[in-house]
Amino acid sequence: MTAGSVETDKRLAAEYAASLVQDGMRVGLGTGTTVAPLLPALGARGLRLRCVATSPATAAAARAAGLAVEPFESLTELDIAIDGADQIAPGPWLVKGGGRAHTREKIVAAAAARFVVIASGEKRVERIRPPVPVELLAFGTASTLHRLGHVVLRGGPPSPDGGVIADWTGPVEDPAALAARLDAEPGVVAHGLFGPELVTDVVVASAGDLAIRAPR
Ligand code: A5P
Repeated sequence: MTAGSVETDKRLAAEYAASLVQDGMRVGLGTGTTVAPLLPALGARGLRLRCVATSPATAAAARAAGLAVEPFESLTELDIAIDGADQIAPGPWLVKGGGRAHTREKIVAAAAARFVVIASGEKRVERIRPPVPVELLAFGTASTLHRLGHVVLRGGPPSPDGGVIADWTGPVEDPAALAARLDAEPGVVAHGLFGPELVTDVVVASAGDLAIRAPR
């Protein structure tokens, strides 16, 4: 598949997701190259929306597209959130956080009545494979890394919330078991495994064709 067709597929999935949004909705906006074409598609619809963004980059792009973005402080629930993924495995299980935004993305997904994952076809995998992004609390990072093992600091700036971005590089035999292990570690702020309880819709475009997994 050429790079051009991957971009076309991302836009196709994003534009389909934009069509799911209705006037008056509270909308969570994800982060990444698949979400990028969602923002102008949504802005062009001219709906009255209240949006929250999962990263400063998305907030800026959404405002440039004419969307009203507010801090995620007073809204308690969202009607829909739309976001990309690095891997989509049966379950569905997702890996997110390649763009360092998975902590805010998970909070937004958890707040949404409907969480729509959009992707081009190469994101589909039979099994989750490493790396799995993690965000660590800066306090005690060396100790957290020592306890976890198999976690490598990614380098680069901290997250917008001051967290340290790293990656689980060990085996992923069972995503639920790894998610539970990472959830149980006090130094882990959030990991990039998103389980079936979070995901309602999966929209994947491959070579111009859309495959849609409807809400549960
Ligand atoms: C951001 O941290 C990520 O979770 C992205 O949503 C994910 O990496 C997908 O990004 P692309 O749409 O750019 O592939």
